[in-house]
Amino acid sequence: MHTPTTSAVVIDGLHKKFKGNHALQGVELEIGPGEVMGLLGPNGAGKTTLVKILTTLLKPDSGRAFVNGWNVTAEPEKVRSTIGMAGQYSTVDGLLTGFENLYLVAKLRGVGRRTARRVADDLLSRFRLTDVAGRPAGTYSGGMRRRLDLAAALVGSPPLVVLDEPTTGLDPESRLDTWEAVGELVAGGTTILLTTQYLEEADRLADRITVIDRGRVVAEGTSDELKAAAGNRLVVCVAEDRQLDAAARATAQATGATPTVDRRARRVEAAATDGQAALARALTALEGEQVEVLEIGLNRCTLDDVFLGLTGRTRREAA
Ligand SMILES: Nc1ncnc2c1ncn2[C@@H]1O[C@H](COP(=O)(O)OP(=O)(O)OP(=O)(O)O)[C@@H](O)[C@H]1O
Ligand SMILES: [Mg+2]
Repeated sequence: MHTPTTSAVVIDGLHKKFKGNHALQGVELEIGPGEVMGLLGPNGAGKTTLVKILTTLLKPDSGRAFVNGWNVTAEPEKVRSTIGMAGQYSTVDGLLTGFENLYLVAKLRGVGRRTARRVADDLLSRFRLTDVAGRPAGTYSGGMRRRLDLAAALVGSPPLVVLDEPTTGLDPESRLDTWEAVGELVAGGTTILLTTQYLEEADRLADRITVIDRGRVVAEGTSDELKAAAGNRLVVCVAEDRQLDAAARATAQATGATPTVDRRARRVEAAATDGQAALARALTALEGEQVEVLEIGLNRCTLDDVFLGLTGRTRREAA
C-alpha cells in the first residue's frame, strides 16, 4: 500500500541482527524531498546495513522503512523503481564496456533501445567517460570505475539516490569530481542519502547529518547544529615544554574536562561547555600556576570533535 507522505524516506524503529550481532538497534530517520542526508558513523556502525534495507537488498527483522511512500518490504519493486544506488561495492561489470554497463542498466529499467543508448551516451559524457566508453570497465582506473558506478545510479533520473561511501579510496581529484556530480544532482532536486566516514564530505555536501554508532542514532542535525551542541574548545599554547603539565592542570580545573596535550605544539586543549566562563577561569588558574601563556582562546568544535565526542572514537581510530 502506498502511504501518502511528504518525506522521501521514513525509517521507523529498524532492527537487524546477524547471528547475535545487533547491527541496527531501532534506527529512526526521515529525509525530506530534495534534501541531502549525510549518514556518518565509524566502521561497523550499521551504515551499509541501513542502506541495504532501504534499497531492498536486505530485509529488516522489525521496524518499517518507506521510500517515496512505498514500504520497502511490502513493495520492493516500487521502491527499486524510484531509487538509484551506488554502493560501497561497485555493481559495475568489469567485462562489459562503460557504454554496455549503462545501456544494460537502462534496459533493466525498462526503457527502449534508442532511449537506452541516448541515456548511456549522456551519462558517459557527463562523467567524462566518453573517451573510454568502448573499453571494458575492468581496465578503468579506480576513479573512472567509481564515476561509472555513480553514472549507473543516475540512469532513469531516480528521485532518490543512495550513495554508500562514494569517495572512499578515491584520489583527491576523483573525490572532487564525485562531489561535483553530487552537487549537480542536488541542483536538479534529487534527494540523496550519502554514507561517509569523511567528516569533510558530510560537512560539505549534506544539509543534515545523522550520526550512527553501534546501530543507534546518536545525533542528528545540521553540521552547524551538531558543532554548536558540542560546545567550544579551550586552547592554550605555552612558551616552554616544562609548563605543559601545569597548563594541563589549570585547563582541567577550569573546564572540568580531561585535556589533550600536544607536546610538540606545546598545546593543551579541552572541551569547554560554558565557553567564556571557562576561559575566564582558565586565565586565573594559569596565573596561579605561573604559566607563561603564548596564546589562549575558544575554538568552535569541528565535526571531528563532534564525532569523537559522540562515538568515543576518532575516525582514524575507528578505521
Ligand atoms: N552479512 C553479515 N553477516 C554478519 N554480520 C554482518 C553482516 N553484514 C554486516 N554485519 C555486521 O553488522 C555490523 C554493521 O555492519 P555495516 O556493514 O552495516 O557497517 P558500516 O557502518 O557500513 O561499516 P563500514 O564503514 O566499515 O562500511 C558490523 O558489526 C558487521 O560486522
Ligand atoms: Mg559500509
